[in-house]
Amino acid sequence: MLATLPGLTENDNLPLINARPARITAPSENFKHMSQLKKSFHIKSRDFIRAGEASINIQNLLKSMDFDPSLIRRVAICGYESEMNVVMHGGDGTLSIEVDSDRLILEITDDGPGIEDIDLAMQAGYSTANDDHREMGFGAGMGLPNMKKNSDRIQVDSKKDDGTLVRMIFFIPEKGETD
Ligand SMILES: Nc1ncnc2c1ncn2[C@@H]1O[C@H](COP(=O)(O)OP(=O)(O)OP(=O)(O)O)[C@@H](O)[C@H]1O
Ligand SMILES: [Mg+2]
Repeated sequence: MLATLPGLTENDNLPLINARPARITAPSENFKHMSQLKKSFHIKSRDFIRAGEASINIQNLLKSMDFDPSLIRRVAICGYESEMNVVMHGGDGTLSIEVDSDRLILEITDDGPGIEDIDLAMQAGYSTANDDHREMGFGAGMGLPNMKKNSDRIQVDSKKDDGTLVRMIFFIPEKGETD
């Protein structure tokens, strides 16, 4: 199932995620051409010791590139929420950041059980977190809503038993412009 969520317009010149299996992650030729830099980090399912490392690496990369702190904060929130979702609910996966001239693209894929009902999963408060997750303070059902709130565009592509892909776009503000 492919969900195009509110705020995502077709004419926004985005490289669209087509209705293809979530685990096929190769970008289109056009997308590759636009890209200036792309870094990817592996995420291991259920590895709570290393959980969060991929998003910290991305945060440090963006800091080293001198991006606006509020932009970095928004990407870091989305990176962490999405990484924890893969660790808790997904399979092994990859978190990547792509830096283009006018936008950052944060993409996360995993080969886990997938999301059967994306609209339901996007609802604040919906969670399938188990008791162990809740013991650690997770399971409020606020991760995906938080990712939607902190990104400029979000697309979720998933189906049951076929993994999950979440792509978020962050427009880079003009110099001097903050959110
Ligand atoms: N990568 C994924 N694979 C499978 N299911 C997922 C994935 N990401 C999210 N989900 C499903 O969507 C639900 C909602 O996710 P969301 O991040 O909003 O809340 P949560 O992870 O349960 O709790 P919180 O993020 O507040 O700790 C999850 O409980 C899970 O059922
Ligand atoms: Mg979550």
